[in-house]
Amino acid sequence: MRVLVTGGAGYVGSHMALVLLRAGHEVVVVDDLSGGHREAVPASATFVEASVADRLRMAEVLGTHGVEAILHFAARIQVGESVSDPRRYYQGNVAASISLLESALDAGVERFVLSSTAAVYGDPVRVPIDEDHPTAPINPYGDTKLAVERMLGAYGRAYGLRWAALRYFNAAGADVRAALDERHDPETHLLPIVIDVALGRREAVTVFGHDYDTPDGTCVRDYVHVLDLCEAHLAALEHLASGSEVGALNLGTGQGHSVEQVIDTVQRVSGREVRVLRGPRRPGDPPRLIASPDRAARILGWRAKRSSLEEIVRDAWQVRSLRK
Ligand code: UFG
Repeated sequence: MRVLVTGGAGYVGSHMALVLLRAGHEVVVVDDLSGGHREAVPASATFVEASVADRLRMAEVLGTHGVEAILHFAARIQVGESVSDPRRYYQGNVAASISLLESALDAGVERFVLSSTAAVYGDPVRVPIDEDHPTAPINPYGDTKLAVERMLGAYGRAYGLRWAALRYFNAAGADVRAALDERHDPETHLLPIVIDVALGRREAVTVFGHDYDTPDGTCVRDYVHVLDLCEAHLAALEHLASGSEVGALNLGTGQGHSVEQVIDTVQRVSGREVRVLRGPRRPGDPPRLIASPDRAARILGWRAKRSSLEEIVRDAWQVRSLRK
């Protein structure tokens, strides 16, 4: 299949491009490099430096390459920034997606997979979270992703667009074979920060909150290996290609791990000590976010295969420790 990966120079998008190429698909990456890195795009993908909101460029890309499906990762992704600077999120996530969907409809592209997030659920009223859990985002980031999901629903009903919105829980891990991992600037995610402390590249990690109603008092998250996420996208593409409906699906493992467990695992895997500071709670952090992955299993036949915390940390450590 000829697939357009937007945001293919970013963390999940670059892994997706790799996985698609390995599965024999043709890949075009569009990325404006506002957050991504040119070197992260696999050499055998076609790379176009452009904004997905650029209608002229997108018409050209979709037409020239005969794109049959779009996997849309390009987005702004920081929860905190979305609160302090929401216009970047409504512009970069909602307005840009409206424009991309216009281009897709004009070019007759019928399959569309959105990179979505557990942030659409807001503060969970029950865990594990299934897809029938109320969607009530508590920040503009989650709100913008939900807005695009709703658009996809309406466009599907009205124009026959076949779509999937894959709601990631905590994406983590790396591709060891390609030495590809996550690189955010600034880095705010727990695992890369803890690994950098183990590597002596940071002084310490501050644990945000010790008094949550969880077994060790620190927040619990459902970490899922980035390559497992990519496998789910492949399955969604195949499903859409066969004419079946997908809709919104959670991508997680159904297992939660606390901040302390992540730190312990990094110490064990790396054989190094990690200096830990105790900090206050970070505003907007729910105590526990755990997916029910059952609908993804039922609809796509997908389950995470390499997402034990041990495997995630091992792969992330291996790639990050090699990096200069
Ligand atoms: N944490 C720390 N110290 C740090 C960084 C993180 O204690 O230096 C804690 C956080 O408080 C949280 C856990 O580690 O409890 C995980 O935090 P991350 O920032 O790695 O990930 P989040 O769970 O906050 O965010 C993820 C995705 C977002 C998505 C969100 C859904 O990265 O894109 O889940 O709520 F929006």
